[in-house]
Amino acid sequence: MIPEPAPTVRELLAFYLEAGVDCALAEEPTDRLAELDTPPPAPRAPPPVEAPRPVAAPAVIRGETAPAPDIAIASAREAARTAPTLEALRELMQSFDGCALKHTATRLVFADGNPQARIMFVGEAPGRDEDIEGLPFVGRSGKLLDLMIGAIGLNRTTVYIANVIPWRPPGNRTPTPQETQICLPFIQRQIELVNPDVLVTLGNPATQTLLSTREGIMRTRGRWFDYETGGRTIRALPTFHPAYLLRSPSYKRLAWQDLRAIAKILAG
Ligand code: URA
Repeated sequence: MIPEPAPTVRELLAFYLEAGVDCALAEEPTDRLAELDTPPPAPRAPPPVEAPRPVAAPAVIRGETAPAPDIAIASAREAARTAPTLEALRELMQSFDGCALKHTATRLVFADGNPQARIMFVGEAPGRDEDIEGLPFVGRSGKLLDLMIGAIGLNRTTVYIANVIPWRPPGNRTPTPQETQICLPFIQRQIELVNPDVLVTLGNPATQTLLSTREGIMRTRGRWFDYETGGRTIRALPTFHPAYLLRSPSYKRLAWQDLRAIAKILAG
C-alpha cells in the first residue's frame, strides 16, 4: 500500500477549524498522549506511625481563605454594585480579572444598541464573530435576531443587546456554572442601569440564569415573568435563541407569537 502523504500545516489547520478548534489556549503545544504514556509514580511507602496530632479545620471552613471562584463572585458583586453608569460598568469589566474566560477571549463583548431603549435582549455568550468584532449577535444568529426585531419595527438603534457572559468561551463551549455565577452580577447591574420596560431572554441558559427557573425553554417561552432589579419590577419574556431557530426553523412560528406579545406590551 502506498502511504498517504503527511498533511500540510494548512490542511491540518483547516481540519482543526472544521472540528471547532479555532483558538490557541497556550503558547506551546501539550502532548496529552505523552502524558498517558508516562508510567504512574511508584506507590510510596506508608509513613511511619506517629502519635496522633490535633487536626486543624481546613482553612476554607476556618474562614481564612475562600476558594478562588467564591472570591471572584464576591468581587464581581462588589464591583458591579458600585458602577454608577454603563460606561463605568464597562471599564470595571475591562479590568476585572476574576473570570478565566477573559484570558482566552480576544476582547470584552459588552453590548450593542441604545442604552435608553425600552427593550433589552440578553443572550448566553459571544461566539467567534462577536469575539472578533466586540459586539453581541453579529454572526449568523445575530442576522436572524436583526430580522426578528425588524419584524416588530425595531432595530439596533431602538433596542439594547447584551449577553450573560461577556467573554467568548473557547471553542464556543458551554460556560461552566462557576463562570456564569462570576459574570452574573455584571449583567444584573447592566439590566438595572438600562432599566428597560421589557427584558427578553434568548434561549435556555439566559432564561434559567436571569429568571431563576429550572424549567426548559419549551415551557418558559411566551410566558411573562417578573424580573426584580431591587428597585423595580421589569416584565421579562423568554423566547427561543436565534441559533436554535436556525437549527429548528419550525419553531419560528412560536417565536413570532412571542414577538407579537412583546410588540403589544411596548405599544400599550
Ligand atoms: N449567541 C449568543 O448567545 N450571544 C451572542 O452574542 C452571539 C451568539
